[in-house]
Amino acid sequence: MLKAEGVAYHYPGGADVLSEVSFSASAGEVLALVGRNGAGKSTLLRLLNGLRKPTRGSIVVDGMNTTDTPVHLISRVIGTVFQAPEQQIFNATVHDEVMFGPRNLPISAEERDRRVHEALARTKLAEFAKHHPLDLDQARRRFVALASVLATGPSALLLDEPQRGLDARSRSLLETIIRQEQQAGRCIIIVCHDMEFVARLATRVIALSEGRLSADMAPLQFFTNPALTAAASVEAPDIVRLSQALLLPPSLTPAAFAEAWLADRQETSTQV
Ligand SMILES: Nc1ncnc2c1ncn2[C@@H]1O[C@H](COP(=O)(O)OP(=O)(O)OP(=O)(O)O)[C@@H](O)[C@H]1O
Ligand SMILES: [Mg+2]
Repeated sequence: MLKAEGVAYHYPGGADVLSEVSFSASAGEVLALVGRNGAGKSTLLRLLNGLRKPTRGSIVVDGMNTTDTPVHLISRVIGTVFQAPEQQIFNATVHDEVMFGPRNLPISAEERDRRVHEALARTKLAEFAKHHPLDLDQARRRFVALASVLATGPSALLLDEPQRGLDARSRSLLETIIRQEQQAGRCIIIVCHDMEFVARLATRVIALSEGRLSADMAPLQFFTNPALTAAASVEAPDIVRLSQALLLPPSLTPAAFAEAWLADRQETSTQV
């Protein structure tokens, strides 16, 4: 679905932000893209969706090389929710904002309406359809940006810190939508500083450090390697560290921890 090979990038007049990035991502994968502030995560998303072009190397998305493919064609297969979604909202109502993408697709008016209706329902925005997007709170604005992307039916979703600033209920809605998209075979890349979120959702972690990928592996493998987490300036979730401190098999979530702990306790009591 997505393949980056030897990708380097520098902003005009600047030094290399990315110097050698290679990875691929397939349908149904949820990749967490992690790394310190300024590591180049948002820049990498802008390269994947074709808004910027690699200065070296190549990115191929659904068979299209981003270097010579117009952005509007790439945006049919890749949907992006940017770090500041306000910057991607420019219609006067939530409905029109979500309709913007489908209106530019070669699909029937009925299909457009169906998609907009569905995207608004999934993001719990139906009752706000006639509101100005910028009159909504920060969490709902984020969901407007997400609904706009869902309505275009992309094969890949790029989400830049989508969980930031969301309360528990909104975060849970976001997680539900991400899981549904994964089950529908979308390839999802999430930039994220929240490692609990990563532990719950990601099937793989890719870490950026010094312009390169310092890790590309399963979340548990990443979180239990102190050198790799330090290089990416992240801390493993508490539950991973707690299970390690108790000499239990490392667990990514409280539910997995409880299972390991109960199994261990049962084993100990049988031995006694
Ligand atoms: N439009 C731009 N022009 C010039 N330099 C830029 C531009 N956007 C980002 N940079 C620089 O590129 C580097 C990578 O920035 P980027 O925003 O990709 O990092 P990031 O990993 O997303 O950071 P954060 O976690 O803070 O969002 C930084 O040094 C940043 O200052
Ligand atoms: Mg960023």
